[in-house]
Amino acid sequence: MNYLLAVDSSITGPDSVSVPLVAEFAQAWSDAAPDRTVVSRDLTANPVPHLTTSGQHYAEAMRRPHEIVDDAQTALQRELIDEVAGAAAVVIGAPMYNWSIPSTLKAWLDHLHVLGMTTSDESAPGPLHGIPVVVVSPRGLSYDNTVPELAGDYTVPAIEKILGGSMGMDVTSVVADYTLADRLPPLAEHADAAALSRAAASARLRELAAEL
Ligand SMILES: Cc1cc2nc3c(=O)[nH]c(=O)nc-3n(C[C@H](O)[C@H](O)[C@H](O)COP(=O)(O)O)c2cc1C
Repeated sequence: MNYLLAVDSSITGPDSVSVPLVAEFAQAWSDAAPDRTVVSRDLTANPVPHLTTSGQHYAEAMRRPHEIVDDAQTALQRELIDEVAGAAAVVIGAPMYNWSIPSTLKAWLDHLHVLGMTTSDESAPGPLHGIPVVVVSPRGLSYDNTVPELAGDYTVPAIEKILGGSMGMDVTSVVADYTLADRLPPLAEHADAAALSRAAASARLRELAAEL
């Protein structure tokens, strides 16, 4: 099956910015060829549990005796990894919550990132190596980590580090800034910037959907 895995992690319901952007990407991607389908994973409606043993972070052969992973934990981890490994591409809605990754999304990433199993480099490519991932990250304010006064995005860099740096996936990130301009009065002056940023994110996602 030629599928896009579409992952959502927003908790903002009808106010969500990431959910419609992920849906827009998914629609454009699946419309681009007749045999394409979309598999959705909503981590808010169906959260995966937290890891409960460091054994889940290491391939079986690397575990210490006290790191016992039970059959259900192994089966879930296998299912989540296989779902990504089988995808032609992945899109992830990754809103900024408290400058960081939504905890549900973090739990999903924790299951995927297994040393000795899904880690990757050019000499020993892992099972997720090279799979394209588009990260869609709206945030209430605006951030630019290259400028000290505007730094503070611990969402996108962490995801890029895990999926791209460690697992060898081909990550492209798209952000939408000032999404709280219509909610927080001090941000009202950024309403135009917010609209422009969202439109740019939408356009970039359509471009990427046509490329992937
Ligand atoms: C729990 C929570 C924490 C948030 N923390 C931040 C933050 O640290 N910085 C920020 O710029 N916006 C923050 N926001 C605003 C969200 O990033 C913004 O509303 C974004 O559009 C959320 O995307 P979503 O609606 O798709 O979930 C927070 C929102 C929530 C609900």
